[in-house]
Amino acid sequence: MTAELPDILIQEVAPRDGLQIEPQWIETDDKVRLIDSLSAVGFRRIEVSSFVSSKAVPALRDAGEVFASIRRRPGTIYTALIPNRKGAELALAARADELNFVMSASETHNRANMNMTHDRSLASLAEIVEPACTAGALVNATIATAFGCPFEGVQPSGKVLDIVKRYLDLGADGITLADTTGMANPNQVSRLVAEVLTVLPSDKLTLHFHNTRGLGLVNVLAAYDSGARRFDAALGGLGGCPFAPGATGNVCTEDLVNLCHEIGLRTGLDLDRLIDLSKRLPALVGHDVPGQVAKAGRPLDLHPIPERLQQHPA
Ligand code: COA
Ligand code: ZN
Repeated sequence: MTAELPDILIQEVAPRDGLQIEPQWIETDDKVRLIDSLSAVGFRRIEVSSFVSSKAVPALRDAGEVFASIRRRPGTIYTALIPNRKGAELALAARADELNFVMSASETHNRANMNMTHDRSLASLAEIVEPACTAGALVNATIATAFGCPFEGVQPSGKVLDIVKRYLDLGADGITLADTTGMANPNQVSRLVAEVLTVLPSDKLTLHFHNTRGLGLVNVLAAYDSGARRFDAALGGLGGCPFAPGATGNVCTEDLVNLCHEIGLRTGLDLDRLIDLSKRLPALVGHDVPGQVAKAGRPLDLHPIPERLQQHPA
């Protein structure tokens, strides 16, 4: 790797995955301020919002206004999640740099989340690639519940691989494997990532883990060891799918950045600035957030030696 390129690419999804599940309305200006602050930290990709039914996800019903108001940092790709052609049209009108199309590996979760069968979702993807290309936008395609579905259980890797191939045939530029409700384990992750990397180069594959069962960071490491280099994460560990029972937050960005730096992987991101931003989240969302490093401090933020020990050194 050259000096400028990070060893691992961390893509920030808090404005979309993080805020979609928040019950309290967050003002458009506050969303824009959060995204502008994340841009200033230097993320190469930020998922800004989603163009979905406002009945399904009322928390993000201001996606168009948010896109119109953010300050775009040159070099950063601003992504919009979309489920169908209407979402693609709205996202392209809002000048999203990338459309993130989502379908679940599990038909049951796809119906719960998108009210669509696989055939209908794939027909939508087929319709959106050309208008995206004409507009100069990228198309990423996500496989939700790729490691397990809260209704159907584990999804066979052959099924996931078939969807990867369909996505590529339909013209997707990149693919995300999403562990929507934190059901993945490191052994499963190693196997699936290795399989998918036989049909897709690592710069086109993103892993999207939720920390629902505390396995988020070990799954990232397992994926990294199997050759994955792009990961989604959310500031403060916010996040969750409103249509998956028991869903909780994404892998926490600053916890992941801390892990990477501790083991010598360059992220190109400034941990101190992320911690400062994360500390502002409880005021924004109205509750504590799961991230741990922002609470504990960096490992070498040392504490004063207790006075008692200073007076009587060993
Ligand atoms: N953006 C905004 N509005 C949309 C839309 C989109 N992408 N797609 C459809 N709509 C509107 C329709 O215009 C219609 O509006 P109306 O009631 O005012 O006429 C309404 O939503 C229903 O449209 P329909 O095509 O019948 O969709 P549906 O009710 O079957 O819902 C989805 C399908 C995909 C729109 C809906 O399930 C959805 O938005 N899901 C997203 C869930 C999500 O974001 N999950 C978390 C991220 S993975
Ligand atoms: Zn998610």
